[in-house]
Amino acid sequence: MELKIVNQKNITIKIFDNSQLGCEYVAGRIRNLIVRNNGLYKTTVLGLATGNTPTGVYKELVNYHKRERLSYSRVVTFNLDEYYPMNRYHEHSYHTYMHHHLFNETDIHPDFTFIPNGELSASEITEYCNQYEEQIERMGAIDIQLLGIGENGHIGFNEPGAEIDSLTRKVKLALKTRENAAQNFGGIKKVPQEAITMGVNSILKANEIICMAWGKRKAKVIADFLHKDISIERPVSYLHTHANVKLVIDEAAASFL
Ligand code: F6R
Repeated sequence: MELKIVNQKNITIKIFDNSQLGCEYVAGRIRNLIVRNNGLYKTTVLGLATGNTPTGVYKELVNYHKRERLSYSRVVTFNLDEYYPMNRYHEHSYHTYMHHHLFNETDIHPDFTFIPNGELSASEITEYCNQYEEQIERMGAIDIQLLGIGENGHIGFNEPGAEIDSLTRKVKLALKTRENAAQNFGGIKKVPQEAITMGVNSILKANEIICMAWGKRKAKVIADFLHKDISIERPVSYLHTHANVKLVIDEAAASFL
């Protein structure tokens, strides 16, 4: 069952029985856009997230490639973030994640996939981040930006305290974020302290934003996002200033609404 609610703040909320149905819906929207653009020989620009939330979306996108021969050869992707410092081939790098879940399984061109580079020296970062913004601008704009939400309200690695006009930059990770990653990394000490992330403003420049959340763990942040005011302490709340946001959640994440 899918319940569609449109609130007054330009956020369309879609609640699905489970995350699988939500992921199928999101992947279907991306597929339709790619099919339309491929037919017009147009590039599709996607902003991608990592973490647990979007894995089902990527699984469906891979299925479209394998079952329907959907081609990603005209797709350009920009990932939101990467840990810093981080070797791209580390098992927990977002580089490895993206190749495992999507890139290696489709015909997307390696030169068209952009992920912040966690291997830079400290002195290279500022210029690199400016170039990342320029690369997005050169493509026009991101057509669809996928987002997960941190339990602390972060989007990308824009942690509480991130400014609405922030751009791609190096940031300090919140303790909560590192704690959540600790199990994967085999202990909090092994989780990097910093990351390179697209900024709030970089995210808000996308034509459409699809923000997803599954499970009871996300119920509070979803309720706060929808019921409370915009706050620097909850970067997800900045999405209220965007004209075209879809919030795709499951019943459990909607349980405090
Ligand atoms: C990942 C990212 C993060 C995650 C968020 C939710 O690229 O930018 O903002 O989307 O931390 O993580 P999961 O999906 O693991 O609950």
